[in-house]
Amino acid sequence: MEYFDIHCHILPGVDDGAQTKEESLSMIDLSYNEGTRDIIFTPHYMRGKNKYTREELRQRYEEFKKEVQEKYPDLRLYFGNEVLYEEGIIQDLKDGKIQTMNDTKYVLVEFNIRTSYSQIFEAMQKIENARFRPIIAHVERYRCLFKHIERIEELIRMEVLLQMNISSVYGGILDENARWCKKLVREGHISFFGTDAHDMEERAPYINDYVAWIEKKCGLDYLEKTFRDNPQKMIENKYIFD
Ligand SMILES: [Fe+2]
Repeated sequence: MEYFDIHCHILPGVDDGAQTKEESLSMIDLSYNEGTRDIIFTPHYMRGKNKYTREELRQRYEEFKKEVQEKYPDLRLYFGNEVLYEEGIIQDLKDGKIQTMNDTKYVLVEFNIRTSYSQIFEAMQKIENARFRPIIAHVERYRCLFKHIERIEELIRMEVLLQMNISSVYGGILDENARWCKKLVREGHISFFGTDAHDMEERAPYINDYVAWIEKKCGLDYLEKTFRDNPQKMIENKYIFD
């Protein structure tokens, strides 16, 4: 199976992810060896703290992409941002300052870990009212959602898409976080996985070992849906909810 990584910080020297081109290329090698064949680079967008404009980032992406594709012609690369939500983000989206996922209406959005549920809910409404389609990055990370299945279900009813970091499913029965993540996966609430890879050490772009568990518990169809069908629809700007 060919994996699709919709969230990573592999683009070199632009955020807290890969710092050098060598590190980025090692991450690409690892991703390719894991079986990943589609990657969306999603450098952080933090209002007022960005080192580069969207145009500058795109230029760096295009240059890096050219180099990667000489080595791996069958590796498909795309470009996006991981947007830290705060006041003013909607305006930045409207002004085209934010790179959406492969230039579609899909936006990968993260929050501070202690953001309240009402703030997340309101942000999702605002993004949708502005005619964008929000994907919540690493949904397992926010305190206000932890073990609140009714909130997860409410977000899904609003057609908010949820992304989980693939390594979050790792952990035994005593690991409360892993148990919660596994529940979300088993119940089919997760639309996408991503590695959220930042480096070659603690946050490297491994996928295979984690996928084994998902396949065992949820079957091949769910894998196909989360690693192929949904991401493919997303990059083509197609509707994902059936
Ligand atoms: Fe990230």
